[in-house]
Amino acid sequence: MTKRVAIIGAGPSGLAQMRAFQSAAAKGAEIPEIVCFEKQSNWGGLWNYTWRTGLDQYGEPVHGSMYRYLWSNGPKEGLEFADYSFEEHFGKQIASYPPRAVLFDYIEGRVKKADIRDWIKFETVVRNVEFEDGKFSVTVKDLPSGERTTEEFDYVVCASGHFSTPNVPEFEGFDSFKGRILHAHDFRDALEFKDQDILIVGTSYSAEDIGSQCWKYGAKSITVSHRTAPMGFKWPDNWQEVPLLTKVVGNTAHFKDGTTKDVDAILLCTGYIHHFPFMAEDLNLRTANRLASANLYKGVAWADNPNLFYLGMQDQWFTFNMFDAQAWWSRDVMIGRIETPSTADMKADVEERIAREDALEDDYGCIWYQGDYTKELIDETDYPSFDVEGACQAFKAWKGHKVADIMTFRNNAYASVITGTMAPMHHTPWKDALDDSMEVYLKN
Ligand SMILES: Cc1cc2nc3c(=O)[nH]c(=O)nc-3n(C[C@H](O)[C@H](O)[C@H](O)COP(=O)(O)OP(=O)(O)OC[C@H]3O[C@@H](n4cnc5c(N)ncnc54)[C@H](O)[C@@H]3O)c2cc1C
Ligand SMILES: NC(=O)c1ccc[n+]([C@@H]2O[C@H](COP(=O)([O-])OP(=O)(O)OC[C@H]3O[C@@H](n4cnc5c(N)ncnc54)[C@H](OP(=O)(O)O)[C@@H]3O)[C@@H](O)[C@H]2O)c1
Repeated sequence: MTKRVAIIGAGPSGLAQMRAFQSAAAKGAEIPEIVCFEKQSNWGGLWNYTWRTGLDQYGEPVHGSMYRYLWSNGPKEGLEFADYSFEEHFGKQIASYPPRAVLFDYIEGRVKKADIRDWIKFETVVRNVEFEDGKFSVTVKDLPSGERTTEEFDYVVCASGHFSTPNVPEFEGFDSFKGRILHAHDFRDALEFKDQDILIVGTSYSAEDIGSQCWKYGAKSITVSHRTAPMGFKWPDNWQEVPLLTKVVGNTAHFKDGTTKDVDAILLCTGYIHHFPFMAEDLNLRTANRLASANLYKGVAWADNPNLFYLGMQDQWFTFNMFDAQAWWSRDVMIGRIETPSTADMKADVEERIAREDALEDDYGCIWYQGDYTKELIDETDYPSFDVEGACQAFKAWKGHKVADIMTFRNNAYASVITGTMAPMHHTPWKDALDDSMEVYLKN
């Protein structure tokens, strides 16, 4: 009997899983039957942009958290697929910080070439996953027809992402604030905040990037409120960093140090929660957004039942290439090339990774930790090996460029760790590049 694999989600992680199986099949391996369930009508996950917010046309929570004008926040040289370079896709080397549409095109190019679209059931949401008598039963709903079906699988790969369910704190006075309050998940167009005084809560990538976008597209002022520490970059003159918001009175925001600021809108860039409402309790991943996820052997196999895999659940320095490493490794467990050890040994592996992460001192430690992890998995599979050290060095240089000037870091270029080719400098500085269409970006 052919084994069956259910993949939940056709974002970069789920697509990596399909590409891993397809590449093994192309080399003559026997592979299981693959069925991928994707609730949206197209692949690409977060990179499949939607204008929608809130609920979609079927009453499902909108998955998308990406916004118009989003450009990669790290150099593309840190995420390039080892089996499908940017040069192969675009026919030339391109600049280092592609906008969303360019990265979507690149992600799509590899899976079009692999010809795996037929494995995906679109507009099909996974409602329930249970494990009984050695099999998973997966219940899905076909969204257009409303029909529910349940099928049995030998393996489940959960690749549903973890940057879609917002973490939304409330502050005193929100219910009488007269402007807009929204979470980063619902942010779409920076032009909405042109000429406005905006308050951002949070200090991580969403805060930095949404604030920078609003600045670029003409916000009057940006105030960023921190719980732990300010970001500390050299911000433009109309940008200030303040301690945590304590309350809002009318349109006046009050901060922990007693200062106040009148604002028109409040953007909560307060992160996301891992949320898998379709998973049975004994299969449900509960973890913080960190490098060593709870209960995942090698960062992917559910330690209590290694027939279940979670891809891409870590906080992310490395993305597409790490998802590939995880997908190739999971594939090899599923086709019997890699054996998982005892439950006790898998739990010990999880604890060891957590302890090692807890001992890291700074972001550089985190970058190399995740680079080493990616390399560890690659070394156990036939994923094309690449210069992981070079990718870590690109991230290091990127951090330096941000410290030097947060509004110009995207004007830098790096060498590909796959082909060795240097990226061209982009034709327009990021702050002046208001049209970020693929056509304009590729005019190098
Ligand atoms: C605003 C933002 C900007 C980012 N920018 C960058 C960047 O510049 N560079 C970078 O490398 N990374 C970036 N990331 C990180 C991002 O997490 C990864 O690039 C990547 O999208 C993760 O892929 P994924 O497949 O794991 O998850 P996702 O991209 O989230 O895809 C998950 C898929 O699962 C589907 N799904 C979810 N639940 C179900 C269900 N119940 N049934 C069926 N299908 C389901 C979703 O519809 C979706 O298609 C960004 C993230 C955010 C939020
Ligand atoms: N252009 C881009 O490529 C781009 C843009 C945006 C986002 N992203 C990606 O999206 C992912 C998510 O980033 P993120 O910034 O949304 O989430 P995140 O990295 O998890 O950061 C969450 C932030 O919210 C703060 N926070 C949480 N709860 C809070 C509370 N109750 N009060 C005050 N502050 C609170 C945290 O502060 P503490 O430090 O105090 O915990 C932290 O600063 C990342 O992978 C990032 O790379 C990419």
